[in-house]
Amino acid sequence: MEYQFPKNFWWGSAASGPQTEGTVSGDGKAQNIWDFWYQEKPEKFYQEVGPSETSQFYLNYQEDIQMMKAIGHNSFRTSIQWSRLIPNPETKKINEEAVVFYNHVIDELLSNDIEPFINLYHFDMPLSLQAKGGWLNREVVEDYIFYAKTCFELFGDRVKKWFTHNEPIVPVEGGYLYGWHYPDEVNLKHGVQVAYHETLASAKAIEVYHAQHYAGEIGIVLNLTPTYPRDKQNKADVEAARLVDGLFNRSFLDPAVKGEFPRDVVQWLKEHGLMPKVYKEDLELIRNNTIDLLGVNYYQPRRVKVKETPINHDLRFIMPEDFYDVYDMPGKKMNPYRGWEIYEKGIYDTLMNIKENYGNIRCYISENGMGVEREEQFMNAEGVIEDDYRIKFVIDHLKWVHQALQEGSQVQGYHMWTCMDNWSWLNAYKNRYGFIAVDLENKTKRTIKKSGYWFKELTEKNGFME
Ligand code: NOJ
Repeated sequence: MEYQFPKNFWWGSAASGPQTEGTVSGDGKAQNIWDFWYQEKPEKFYQEVGPSETSQFYLNYQEDIQMMKAIGHNSFRTSIQWSRLIPNPETKKINEEAVVFYNHVIDELLSNDIEPFINLYHFDMPLSLQAKGGWLNREVVEDYIFYAKTCFELFGDRVKKWFTHNEPIVPVEGGYLYGWHYPDEVNLKHGVQVAYHETLASAKAIEVYHAQHYAGEIGIVLNLTPTYPRDKQNKADVEAARLVDGLFNRSFLDPAVKGEFPRDVVQWLKEHGLMPKVYKEDLELIRNNTIDLLGVNYYQPRRVKVKETPINHDLRFIMPEDFYDVYDMPGKKMNPYRGWEIYEKGIYDTLMNIKENYGNIRCYISENGMGVEREEQFMNAEGVIEDDYRIKFVIDHLKWVHQALQEGSQVQGYHMWTCMDNWSWLNAYKNRYGFIAVDLENKTKRTIKKSGYWFKELTEKNGFME
């Protein structure tokens, strides 16, 4: 069967500034929470590899962009590093070297016919702003608006696709529940306040962007995790799944697309004493400033059942898991090289949910991908990684994207996480995701994997046969 995609479909990949650029001494970048956390607790990071050891996009961007082109990209998402552009949010002085760098990146992408998709916030709170609480502090919303406005003014003549945040739920989960992000607290109430300020910041940035009538569009990138109950006939399982979907998906998706927070979630927050501090005028602002375009990151689903195991911690530290259990579905398909479930149909379910319940807003798959540990084991005699599993992973997901298109979804593109193997937060280089391998001994050496060559073919044909 032939799977053809619409004309002008976006093919490419996503990355982020903090995971690729690297810190070069003398470049004027200030510390963000990752630079700081690594300095404080290097043992938290896999093999003690920290954020300065990324793939050096700061120095290598020209070759990297050439390689993106070589494997068929017509678009690429990365993020600007706030702490690079505005090292001192107090003085608000712009780092001219950062301006030169991001201008070069944008121009280089455009001259290679690669559309730049630029995200503003990818988990990288500047340290000086974290010192006053980061997203917990309402003042930081204003700091972010200054940053966003600066980006639009500097780059908005050429960048036509903007995103306010990448996966805003992750700083909440990571920073205030599960210890993967600084400040590494367990405090759901703080997490809820952070989530609220992220949404407020997003709506304000959208307002600023639209007010200037730039010739582009603005959205948000959300990791939408389809949430399935163990048993669809069991009311308690279904209710648990609904709550989890509300907390982790709809609490960002609804305000972004519909301009309002989901009522059931608000009710639940009230019942549990978790309501954030909200100003009336914020709600109007959020209602009036919804997104133009939605980025959907999809990796794996959540499977849940009603709470069966007793809560075994101090109830002052309320956790989402106090209200549901994870359901370990027998026979679920796993990625053998990283313990995540593979459920291709989840991408379709997500797209259909957007079609049916979110006004069929235009969207694109902004991340999908397969992490593999010790990927060197698949290297052939010529030094090329034969990642047939990744090719299959993409094909199997694209079939469902194609199906959603047939059924009227307005999905406009597919970006893989990621182009070059990159540094991933606490996991550093543990899981490789790229179409292109990066030699960890010599980070400027890159080798296209089998999937990279395959991706080129896919994009040239704008589809595939199976
Ligand atoms: C989600 C995030 O956007 C990115 O930063 C992360 O490294 C990948 N997915 C892989 O887990």
